[in-house]
Amino acid sequence: MSDSSKPPVIAIDGPTASGKGTVAALVANALGFHYLDSGALYRLVSLASEREGISTENASFLSKIAASMLVSFQNGQIMLGNEDVSDLIRTEKIGRRASKLAVHPEVRQALVRLQHDFRQNPGLVADGRDMASVLFPDARLKVFLTASVAARAERRYKQLIAKGFSANMSDLLLDLTARDARDSSRGSAPLIVAEGAIVLDTSDLSIDQAVSQVMRWYEASSKSSA
Ligand code: DC
Repeated sequence: MSDSSKPPVIAIDGPTASGKGTVAALVANALGFHYLDSGALYRLVSLASEREGISTENASFLSKIAASMLVSFQNGQIMLGNEDVSDLIRTEKIGRRASKLAVHPEVRQALVRLQHDFRQNPGLVADGRDMASVLFPDARLKVFLTASVAARAERRYKQLIAKGFSANMSDLLLDLTARDARDSSRGSAPLIVAEGAIVLDTSDLSIDQAVSQVMRWYEASSKSSA
């Protein structure tokens, strides 16, 4: 149940490269809401810990990094301390490490407060894996946004090439499949379709169509909770 005393939340969960980040950011923009890219936080822990040579198995050290890293989101840029790391965190290597270190409950716990702090008026659109199930179970709208592995690999390929990174389709397919398996099977906050979530398969939808669908659902949910 949505708690009407708190700013409303739209939770958008889904597998990697499903387009949830793009859709969530556009919905937030259309509504004038804040936007939480929770995957970026795991990617930041991944980058910061890689630089310090810390293994993805070292849960206690990783959770210290997660709790102490200086993160800020400024005009679409993601800052670690004073450094703009927006592009550095988007590589496949950093994403793969993020998926590995995200299995540790201590690391997840260390990021809870930071994520809850994004819930500010007039509202929040939050994207990730456990937004509806763990972080914001009282979200007004819960969407599970997905697409076929082939469609997601193609999107990721285009994104990487557009950013000037090299990419290979068969490696991407293998990597996405492995990451889906790890994110869905971990014991702590696995990627699941949360209770009350609506599934949106975007394999054959444009970004605009996906955004419009989420907006329609949000309008309907706002009317029913008024
Ligand atoms: O959404 P993304 O690809 O940027 O996320 C990178 C990794 O971070 C993902 O493979 C698993 C982890 N993650 C998570 O465990 N929980 C979240 N809410 C968001 C991301």
